[in-house]
Amino acid sequence: EAELYVVYKGVLMPKLVHTPASLKYYEDFSFRPDDILIVTYPKSGTTWMQEVVPLILSHGDPVVVDTVPNWDRVPWLEETRACDLNLDQRPPPRIFTTHFHHAMMSSSFFTVKPRVIYLMRNPRDVFTSSFHYHGMASFLVDPGTQTEFLHKFLDGKVMFGSWFDHVKGWLSAGEHQHIMYICYEEMILDLQAAVARLAEFLDTPLDSETIGKIAERCVFKNMKNNKMSNYSLVPSELMDQNTSMFLRKGMAGDWKNQLTVAEGEDFDAVYRNKMQHVKYKFFWD
Ligand code: PPS
Repeated sequence: EAELYVVYKGVLMPKLVHTPASLKYYEDFSFRPDDILIVTYPKSGTTWMQEVVPLILSHGDPVVVDTVPNWDRVPWLEETRACDLNLDQRPPPRIFTTHFHHAMMSSSFFTVKPRVIYLMRNPRDVFTSSFHYHGMASFLVDPGTQTEFLHKFLDGKVMFGSWFDHVKGWLSAGEHQHIMYICYEEMILDLQAAVARLAEFLDTPLDSETIGKIAERCVFKNMKNNKMSNYSLVPSELMDQNTSMFLRKGMAGDWKNQLTVAEGEDFDAVYRNKMQHVKYKFFWD
């Protein structure tokens, strides 16, 4: 693990994509008030949002999502690539991604208060997606058995730390920041309604035909075919999509096919305990 991961501000992060230089770059980064930040715990639907938001801002024009890989289109600020993308030169509104916890954000974020879209997913499905991802990505530690990985996940001893801390931290940040909360399951249930809600938050009025067009492009079966978003441009030594596709199943509730009854009960017990004081009504509850 020490070989593959670095501990930064208390959480594990894969070294291959997060170098000391890139983390320093993020610490010194200057946000602008019109920036848009997509924030997720890994495997919560990041790639999906990296498709939806640019399409909203382009009023449905697909050029950007057809020609620019998702990691350059909506770059992660904590990844090495961010340093090389001349983000200062990008025209507004700039769109970024981050997996950081709220408490890890750098100082400019707290003073400038850019807009945030915080996307959450049922942690049981996050776990399931992550388990398969760890089996196919060579820069992540071997997950071990499913039960071993489950206990690491519930203890937050995985990349980007605890799902529970991540969600609770960002939910309580809403008082001080300009945040829209949205669940993956809400997007599964009615993507058009989700696109409309996002467009409103982004002050981009769209007619219903455009909203329909955007939603149609972003449904799982269509997005899976976009090579700028399905990670097929990544060499197979890094991501072996013969083992598991990056856009794997794209559904809500696949955990029911993955967790044993005992594992599901363990999960519920930890969930109830950790989330007992959270008032937010999640889509999956
Ligand atoms: S990462 O590595 O953190 O960027 O991964 P992330 O993109 O957050 O999560 C990957 C999961 O999101 C699913 N996905 C989608 N679901 C439904 N519709 C669309 N369009 C879509 N695009 C990506 C993807 O399939 C992963 O979930 P699983 O459960 O593994 O299929």
